[in-house]
Amino acid sequence: MPKVIGVIQVKGGAGRSTVSTNLAGELSKLGKTILIDCDMPQGTSASWYAVRVQSGKKGGLTTDTASSHQELVTKVQEYSKADYIVLDGPPRIAELTRAILVLADLCLIPVGASAAEIWATNDLLALITAAKQVKAINARMVWTRYRPNTKLAQELSELATKELGLAALTTTLGMRVTYMQALGEGLTVAELADQSAKVEARSLVEEVKKLLKVKP
Ligand SMILES: Nc1ncnc2c1ncn2[C@@H]1O[C@H](COP(=O)(O)OP(=O)(O)OP(=O)(O)O)[C@@H](O)[C@H]1O
Ligand SMILES: [Mg+2]
Repeated sequence: MPKVIGVIQVKGGAGRSTVSTNLAGELSKLGKTILIDCDMPQGTSASWYAVRVQSGKKGGLTTDTASSHQELVTKVQEYSKADYIVLDGPPRIAELTRAILVLADLCLIPVGASAAEIWATNDLLALITAAKQVKAINARMVWTRYRPNTKLAQELSELATKELGLAALTTTLGMRVTYMQALGEGLTVAELADQSAKVEARSLVEEVKKLLKVKP
């Protein structure tokens, strides 16, 4: 059975496609991976993949799209032979977001460098609570555009703990131009020269594998 990782956030621009593409691109080096873009017609992950194919870096990665929860459920079932399926979610509470929560073995919720994203995450909590009635939900925040050792990071971290009570990944993704560059070039940050970003991408993959109990 494939391990399914959902990337959801109500707030647009929080970093869902950045987390999804980096994770899928790196996981595809470990096993057969499908990146399903559930944010159509915008389709950032699908566009990233098209550029990736053009640059000859496709590797063991396949992409697909899903525009409704029924379509997503069917497609996830069809990819039963994959090792990993990464779902890039839409920026709203929709049936698709609910379906992602229920289908995923692990849900990642990118939270960027503003209180707005913490408030938006609060809106997801009710959805997570409802999904917990159906099955055990493994959800983690991922700090993106993170600036360690700043007062803002400290304040946001306190606000998140107080307001959300959701665990965060130990891995944080810093505020780096490399993430923007990688998205436009169909690459993962680990495929570019920025050592700090490489470390973050590898740490993300290792932590996700550990949470999914994938053997090293
Ligand atoms: N850690 C980061 N450092 C710098 N820029 C980042 C970082 N994460 C994301 N970005 C940039 O912020 C923008 C939004 O990120 P992304 O597309 O991943 O978010 P999203 O949640 O998928 O947004 P959308 O609602 O548009 O689908 C992109 O231009 C991306 O390159
Ligand atoms: Mg996106």
